[in-house]
Amino acid sequence: MADPRAARNRFSHTHPQTRSVSEGFDPALSVGVVRSPIYPVSTYCFESAEQAAYWFEVALGKTAAPAGARPELIYARLNHPNGEMFEDALRAVEKGARAAAVFSSGMAAITTTVLTLVKPGQTLLYQRPVYGGTDHFFRHMLPEWNVKAVAVPEGGWDDALSTHAAELALVYIETPANPTLHMIDLQNVHEKMKRRGAQKAWLVVDNTFLGPVFQSPLLHGADLSVYSATKFLGGHSDLVAGAVTAKDVELLAKIKATRAFLGAICEPFTAWLLQRSMATLWLRMIKQSKNAVKLIQVLKTHPAVKKVYHPSLFVGEQARVAEKQCNAPGSMIAFELEGGQPAAFRFLNALTLVKLAVSLGGVESLACHPRTTTASEMSEEDLAAGGVTEGLVRLSVGVEYWRDIAADLQRALDAAIAVPTNEGT
Ligand SMILES: Cc1ncc(COP(=O)(O)O)c(C=O)c1O
Repeated sequence: MADPRAARNRFSHTHPQTRSVSEGFDPALSVGVVRSPIYPVSTYCFESAEQAAYWFEVALGKTAAPAGARPELIYARLNHPNGEMFEDALRAVEKGARAAAVFSSGMAAITTTVLTLVKPGQTLLYQRPVYGGTDHFFRHMLPEWNVKAVAVPEGGWDDALSTHAAELALVYIETPANPTLHMIDLQNVHEKMKRRGAQKAWLVVDNTFLGPVFQSPLLHGADLSVYSATKFLGGHSDLVAGAVTAKDVELLAKIKATRAFLGAICEPFTAWLLQRSMATLWLRMIKQSKNAVKLIQVLKTHPAVKKVYHPSLFVGEQARVAEKQCNAPGSMIAFELEGGQPAAFRFLNALTLVKLAVSLGGVESLACHPRTTTASEMSEEDLAAGGVTEGLVRLSVGVEYWRDIAADLQRALDAAIAVPTNEGT
């Protein structure tokens, strides 16, 4: 039987936008179907008992895989055709990537990566804010495994790297950061790591907010890009998944081995949905980013809004980083309302088109109040350091006609400044 997994790198000469539609699957290998079939299968037949024994040795790292060959399919907790097809498509569009791995969630991708690369007694450095789940894992779970997670203050990389160089295993950066969109110059951190004797530590970047379309961390010194694929990669708010891409095939193979033992791979249907979504990734992200730039004008000029955070508005150092590192500003916006949490809640409760929900990157516009939802477990100190204020609202801009989103925002902002009678008494 023809192996649908043989279809690799057939379009390496084309633009990533083209590869996102065509890479990962060859119709000629599956009865001519234009899109890939789903393989909802848990286990795979071997040609002989000798083959089974051989491929188990390869899977357990006792025997090296034949050069250039893929490990045989064994069992769907290790890998499966739909996972591999999505991985091929993602690897083909992430600049600098030579390998990719799919996971059951963004948190599964992050925790599996960190647990593979950091050992008890070692240290991880990160910069605030990071997504609330990541923050919880770093501050509450890693110390239980005798791993120190140290938050680096703004401008403190030189000191932190010098202090921790000896036991440093990993530097973790989320840029732009959730929810304030604060950006970090990856090349700069990478160079500081080399200068301060921390060149052996891995640089891992959460690229969820800009995705492979607008930012390529592997070209700016990162070893790994991690994703909540639940967001832009999936793009339709209908799945939960994660992904990691790497320059180094062997490094990713180690992470995949941990994935197999933790059981953190996503199942075939989700991988199939992800691969389906890759074909519209460029269309969606470009349209969403253009929508966001138009909506900034509404937010900037409304008296209810104190401050707007979006890369298109950055000045000074943040503008320099955005210009150097990103192709477009993206569709995540944060803004602070005059009147703190009560005003933010009035705004959110008055929205009709934009849905009041956590998560982001889907085709529909979503808004939430990070301080009481996605960032609610952060410490007061981290909230203050990360700029996650009481009046902060996070908006994920969808693909709707922008004037409709603008009208909804305008109405809800008007409601945010109108103090209800029971609050005034
Ligand atoms: C930047 C970022 N990274 C990671 C995650 C975790 O992803 P998941 O919810 O898919 O586990 C999220 C979730 O919101 C996120 O926003």
